[in-house]
Amino acid sequence: MDKIWIKGGQILRGKVKISGAKNAVLPAIAASLLTHEEIILKNVPLVQDVFTMLTLIKELGGRYKLNDHEISIKVENIQSFEAPYELVKTMRASILVLGPLLARYGEAVVALPGGCAIGSRPIDLHMQGLEKLGAKLKLEHGYIKAKAKKLKGTEIEFSKVTVTGTENLIMAACLAKGETVLKNCAKEPEVVDLCNLLISMGAKIEGVGTDTVRIRGVEELKGTTHYVIPDRIEAGTFLVAGGLIGDEIIIENVYPHHLDAVIEKIRFAGINIEKIDSKTLKVNGNSNIRSQDVTTSPYPGFPTDMQAQFMVLMTQANGISIITETIFDRRFLHVNELLRLGADIRVIGDKAIVKGGTPLSGAEVVATDLRASASLVLAGLIADGETVVSQIHHLDRGYERIEEKLAQLGAKIKRIKGEE
Ligand code: UD1
Repeated sequence: MDKIWIKGGQILRGKVKISGAKNAVLPAIAASLLTHEEIILKNVPLVQDVFTMLTLIKELGGRYKLNDHEISIKVENIQSFEAPYELVKTMRASILVLGPLLARYGEAVVALPGGCAIGSRPIDLHMQGLEKLGAKLKLEHGYIKAKAKKLKGTEIEFSKVTVTGTENLIMAACLAKGETVLKNCAKEPEVVDLCNLLISMGAKIEGVGTDTVRIRGVEELKGTTHYVIPDRIEAGTFLVAGGLIGDEIIIENVYPHHLDAVIEKIRFAGINIEKIDSKTLKVNGNSNIRSQDVTTSPYPGFPTDMQAQFMVLMTQANGISIITETIFDRRFLHVNELLRLGADIRVIGDKAIVKGGTPLSGAEVVATDLRASASLVLAGLIADGETVVSQIHHLDRGYERIEEKLAQLGAKIKRIKGEE
């Protein structure tokens, strides 16, 4: 397994280009199951989760061509209705094929994802919603087996905001008979991006980006070309890197309005972020970081996917900050690793109490999940001496060449190739 080696303390400067959003491209790939025509996606991030999703599409019978950061996908004939456990256990977002398969073919078999490092992540809301649309679902041998003659539009209110749950039901409703009204929907930019893709495929969707989305089912959807939005979490990660140890880092290919809550918190912490134009930000480090409390919540709130990275920033602030995680239980696995680097953090229930102003010193640490890995890389950039982050397959799931991007900014960082 590969590792990342970092020698901390190098000032970062220069330009970095943000890749397309992993969480937008995964549902977009799943949406290709809704038509027999070709879907072309541009600005695709070359990250492991994308390759896993493409493998799944191929297993189901689709064909794809990947050329640089563009993929074309065509699903003319389905050969299998099954998303196998081998794939689902490495990437929970595989569940996104459930809605499209049911809607277009009336059948889907998807492995139950099971537990994951950042806590229990049930899919009951996906299942209840599909049942309300008329599907029959049963659980057998660790698999959800779903069947439906023709899905029928109805009104569904999510009891909790769920991103992939909203996406699954929107996709299913596009080919259902009649109108579906979804209430208490997730409003994340990735949900909006999926709706925009579906609309350009011929779907009839209203209320995009609000908590009530209305979908009028159509007989069929067609092919299209779609530009995937930039990854706001990757951009946020570079904003934190810039705040910690940057001197004029220019972040390109970012939509700043997708990062309002993150930018606000980082600015409150005393870090200067300037908007250069509608797709470019500039960030400058500050040695006098102010502590800030933060509570994660669904969009437009502070994203849980930025919690671990923001915590590293707070280890360098001039006071105590309280970070409250409301989306996932057990999403503090990075804390133990940050403690190994010298941070002073105590976890009480859903809160992490971070005492700032602690110098970090390099050590060997283990990545536990995707965003935790990013936080360890950030910590390594400011730690004294050498840090080695292992288990970086987690990092590779969602960050495209992060070590190369950081090295271009001047970081002393490299990948140490491991044995397979
Ligand atoms: C998506 C993102 C992930 C992000 C998360 C929250 C993708 C591929 N992944 O994950 O990066 O961290 O949103 O912003 O887009 N829940 C239920 N029942 C369900 C579904 C969810 O109880 O059927 C709960 C979850 O346990 C969690 C909360 O709802 O507490 C939000 O989860 P959800 O928005 O569904 O996360 P994902 O879509 O899996």
